[in-house]
Amino acid sequence: MNNNVQAIILAAGKSTRFNTEKTKLAETICGQAMILFPIKLLHKLNIPTTVVVGYQETTIKKIITDQHTDPLNFVVQQEPKGTGHALACTQSLWEKDHILVMNGDVPFITPETITTLYNQHIQYNAVLSFVISSTNILEKSYGRVIKTNTQIKIVEAKDFTEEITPPYDINAGIYLINKNFLNQYIATLNDNNANKEFYITDLVTIANQNNFTITTLKAPFDTIRGINTFQELLEAEQIKRYGLINYWMNHGVRFLFSHNVHLDHNVTIGQGSFIGNSVHIKGNTIIGKNCIIQDFSYLENVIIEDNVTIYSHCVIKNSYIQSEAKIGPFAYLRANVNIGQNSEIGNFVEVKNSIIDQHTKAKHLSYIGDSTIGSHVNIGAGTITCNYDGVHKHKTLIKDHAFIGSNNTLVAPITIGEHAFTAAGSTLTTDVPENALAIARATQTNKYDYATKLRPHENTQETKSTKKNTDEFSFVGARIIYPNTPEDEQ
Ligand code: UD1
Ligand code: CA
Repeated sequence: MNNNVQAIILAAGKSTRFNTEKTKLAETICGQAMILFPIKLLHKLNIPTTVVVGYQETTIKKIITDQHTDPLNFVVQQEPKGTGHALACTQSLWEKDHILVMNGDVPFITPETITTLYNQHIQYNAVLSFVISSTNILEKSYGRVIKTNTQIKIVEAKDFTEEITPPYDINAGIYLINKNFLNQYIATLNDNNANKEFYITDLVTIANQNNFTITTLKAPFDTIRGINTFQELLEAEQIKRYGLINYWMNHGVRFLFSHNVHLDHNVTIGQGSFIGNSVHIKGNTIIGKNCIIQDFSYLENVIIEDNVTIYSHCVIKNSYIQSEAKIGPFAYLRANVNIGQNSEIGNFVEVKNSIIDQHTKAKHLSYIGDSTIGSHVNIGAGTITCNYDGVHKHKTLIKDHAFIGSNNTLVAPITIGEHAFTAAGSTLTTDVPENALAIARATQTNKYDYATKLRPHENTQETKSTKKNTDEFSFVGARIIYPNTPEDEQ
């Protein structure tokens, strides 16, 4: 097929029905820009490809050239005057016997459909073959395929004047057209229609009027969905998402509540792992075997080894987490973080640009930035690495087995030596040698009985009532009769 066919992707339209300034072809479906779907399909089929660009051409070209290594042709359609006009703009590049034209906004078309379309096109010696699908509802986004014994034509919903009741066939926007036919008739297209555009679909009428052979190939609707609105994008992405979730379920992954889970298409998940409700896993994230990702966590470009637990509400980006580690709940691993085996990062801990070795714990309310932390280190609650002096970022180095007391402020650059101990509440500005105890806080003074002078009119009545309240909420001695569970009733 590849010796005989070249492809044209139409990607110059204005995306009017999206009602935003951004071209819809840059919108992603499970992490991949819409325009890359046909590009990758044609690459897989090894068909040389030309892309017609126009509206936001720089954006589209960048998406394609950033991701795709094959050389591709771009042709500019200066004004979006319709799909037929877009195809006409590529005329000087037609070389192969058959031109495969694909709308840029039909992302789920399969390689099998293209191959079958080609085979029947050749078998019947057709000048034009195109993909159709049946619809059971009145579709307003698609051209309607009207067939009689002698006639076949595609009429856009906007131009349709007769009565139509479903089921009927719709045009998928994928065409295989003989080059000689195109060269002869492309110039005869006109814009006498509701949109005042040159429609590629009129080529069907032209071929039919000239008694050329036309074939159609029926494909399942979900594979030919065109995306013209945010509603259609949502539906398409939902289909893709379910496809990915089903795939990973078949590979031994448990999804607690798949309805709200998002997976990008490059994500991989190891056997025996568990994905909770509303988890979002994006980019090139790799999750190992037997991991637990609890509800509402967001992972983007994260590599997670086996047996890791991510508790709920964590945000983790561009990081590496080694086996058996535990993260969260409510942890933020912002970027470039490496967490060692068996280490624990707890609630309200933010880590950025840091390496943490194995069996180290930072379990509560900390900021760790630009740091290298050894193994078996304990970071007390409320510890902050002061990495930024307003101009430069500085490094904190905490060596193996160090114990950082609660509420420490480590003013970087600073090194805490092996087995060193820092007292709670310290603000440390100089290095702490190994095995040393560092105390850097004001000395406490106790003024005996002074507190009673501060509250000379103490209200004993109020104290009593507060105490009573506390007792009421105590669980001690509570007697609860549990109702039966449905299982008990059986
Ligand atoms: C088109 C078909 C319709 C079919 C549907 C399938 C026509 C006239 N209608 O309608 O029969 O059922 O696709 O999804 O073709 N484009 C350009 N330049 C232009 C206009 C469009 O490059 O001047 C590109 C768009 O970027 C898009 C593709 O062509 O990728 C299709 O255009 P769109 O406006 O979405 O066509 P539909 O109205 O969906
Ligand atoms: Ca469309």
